Order: sequence, then structure tokens, then C-alpha cells
Amino acid sequence: MKLLVTGGAGFIGSNFIAYMVQKYPEYEIVNVDALTYCGNADNLAVLEETARYRFVQGRIEDKSFIMDLFEKERFDIVVNFAAESHVDRSLTEPGRFLITNVLGTESLLEASRKYGVKRYHQISTDEVYGDLPLHESAMKFSEDSPICPSSPYAVSKASADLLALAYHRSFDLPVTISRCSNNYGPYQFPEKFIPLMIGRAERNQKIPIYGDGQNVRDWLYVEDHCSAIDMILHQGRCGEIYNIGGCNEYSNLQTASVILEKLQKPESLLTFVRDRSGHDRRYAINPAKIESELGWKPSYTFAEGIDATLQWYRTHQAWLEERLNGEYQAYFAATYPGL
Ligand SMILES: NC(=O)c1ccc[n+]([C@@H]2O[C@H](COP(=O)([O-])OP(=O)(O)OC[C@H]3O[C@@H](n4cnc5c(N)ncnc54)[C@H](O)[C@@H]3O)[C@@H](O)[C@H]2O)c1
Repeated sequence: MKLLVTGGAGFIGSNFIAYMVQKYPEYEIVNVDALTYCGNADNLAVLEETARYRFVQGRIEDKSFIMDLFEKERFDIVVNFAAESHVDRSLTEPGRFLITNVLGTESLLEASRKYGVKRYHQISTDEVYGDLPLHESAMKFSEDSPICPSSPYAVSKASADLLALAYHRSFDLPVTISRCSNNYGPYQFPEKFIPLMIGRAERNQKIPIYGDGQNVRDWLYVEDHCSAIDMILHQGRCGEIYNIGGCNEYSNLQTASVILEKLQKPESLLTFVRDRSGHDRRYAINPAKIESELGWKPSYTFAEGIDATLQWYRTHQAWLEERLNGEYQAYFAATYPGL
């Protein structure tokens, strides 16, 4: 079996490749990544000596590059993680999100159709559903919830999903889609909430909290996301969408308190800043379909996942330090002025 994984130098993609290499010793994996500001081929440096893993630098929206690669490699499975993934950046540069997330997906779907891949899997997000009211805890997103994206990022992901479904319907391409809630774990770029908190708390720096801090996210440890994708690839039905979530709903303030307590840092580091424009209030996934159809269940509780994450960042200080320099400084200053 030969897999193309795109965006495998990013957070979830690199965890997924490590997971698959270990679990399927007979699979060959090619990782295509543009190495944007958040991509880092060294995340998979441990696989350098592994002959059945290869890294190729390139952009998914570059059609001639993608077509040549498919012609040469004849992939069985394509898993598309590659994306511009940060909502805040989509508010300042929406066009970049459309190019990578929509046109990049179209380029991969075209190549998958032309070269007859056996499965195309699109990595999507719960953000395509928009948000839920804060105090209606019984309301959760199921696969047939309406698509109602709030941010340019979410619009680009929803568009890619619809395109993938159209390729299934129009061309019989064997497509599956997964929509996961917020991930956390090793190798997550520190612009995202949990590693941002860890990095700043450990340096005794002020930690920005958007608005009133009551926005709720449904957290899933990244390895549990990887196991769900694995199950969908091997047992999922084509043309289907599978929601993935761990039913770990916490407000941003609650998450912040858990991390500060574990790091033994004061809550006074938390600093309320002007809310993100259009900020989604609450996400919550109903994972009943993937649980009942495929037998998937997360294996980490939130407390276990946070401990594993803190331990990883503790032992990978140099990795974090490198990410916090350069372009990141300008991004942080522009996003959180005065901090
Ligand atoms: N992080 C989450 O909580 C979360 C939750 C649900 C879904 N997702 C989805 O999972 C996927 C991966 O997210 P992540 O958090 O690992 O993102 P990430 O930003 O850490 O990684 C994205 C990777 O894609 C690469 N990339 C960007 N543009 C590219 C292009 N044009 N061509 C090739 N490669 C390109 C980057 O270099 C990077 O390595 C995304 O599709 C995202 O929408 C993420």
C-alpha cells in the first residue's frame, strides 16, 4: 500500500505519519509539504533512515507538480492534511486560505481521479458547522448539521469538503471526510491556544485570553485523531462524513486554569484582550456515528492528554524556542498588540 500524506510536516500530519509507520510496517508513505511557517520536516527526523518514508517539498495547488508526482508514484491512498490552518491568519489573509485549502484540494482530487486512487481522505474540521450556543449543552454537531462556517478558514474547509463530495457523486471517486474537534499534543505550532499558553506560562509572560474567556472548545489528543483516521481509511464507507471528538468541552478559561495549575504558574498571567472578530462561541462534536459504525473511542482523557503534552513540550524546549523566533514575533505583536 502506498500512501500520499500532504501537510505531513505540520502538527497533526507528522503525528499521523509516525503513527502509520509504526502500525503498518508494510506501508510506503510519501509526505508532501510546502514547509510554510508552521511546517518543519525535522518533526519526522527519526524516520530519515526509514526507506519506506520519503519527504518531498511542494505545494498541493501546483497542479503540474502534483500530476507528475501521481504519475510517478501511483498512490493507493491520499490523505490531505495540507492547509492554512489558523483562523486568526485567515482574517488578515483570506486569499491564501482559498488557494491552499480549496484550489489545493481540487488539484489533489483531479490527480486522484486521473490516477484512480483507491481512497481519497479529506481532513476537515468541526468549524465548518459554525458555532453552538454556550448554554445548550445538549446541542452538538452531527454529520447532518448544516454547514454554516464563520471565518474565512472555515469557509475554505467547507468548500473543500463540498468539492470532495462532488467528486464522489460526479466521478465516483472513493472519498471519505473526517471533521474533528480541536486537537492538542506534540508538535503543535505555538500560535494555537494550548502550546501558546505553555510557551508563555513557562517564560512567565502574559497570556492572551480572547474576550471573556468563556468560548468553549471540545479537545481531542492528537493520537486519538490519528487512530480515528486510520479506522476511516480501512473501514469507513465511501461518500461518508465522520465527526471525530472526545466530548471534552472546556471554556478557554478552564483550559488555561488546568495548564497553569499543572505548571504551578499564577492565574495573574492571564490577560484579557479584544475578542477575535466573529469568534465562534462553542464547538461540540457528537461522535456517535464513528463510535457505533467503526468502534472508535478515544484512549486519552483530557487530563492524560494534557500531561503527555506538557511532558513533550518540557522535553522539546529547543523545538519550541525555534518556533517562537523569527516570523512568529511579528505575527504575535500584530495579533495581540501591547502584550
Ligand atoms: N489543529 C486542529 O485542532 C485541527 C482540528 C480539526 C482539523 N484540522 C485540520 O487538520 C489539518 C492539519 O492541521 P494542523 O493543525 O496539523 O495544521 P498545521 O498548520 O500545523 O500544518 C499544516 C501543514 O500544511 C503545510 N502546508 C500549508 N500549505 C501548503 C500547501 N499549499 N501545500 C503543501 N503543504 C502545505 C504546512 O507547511 C504544514 O506543515 C488541516 O487540514 C486542518 O484544517 C486541524
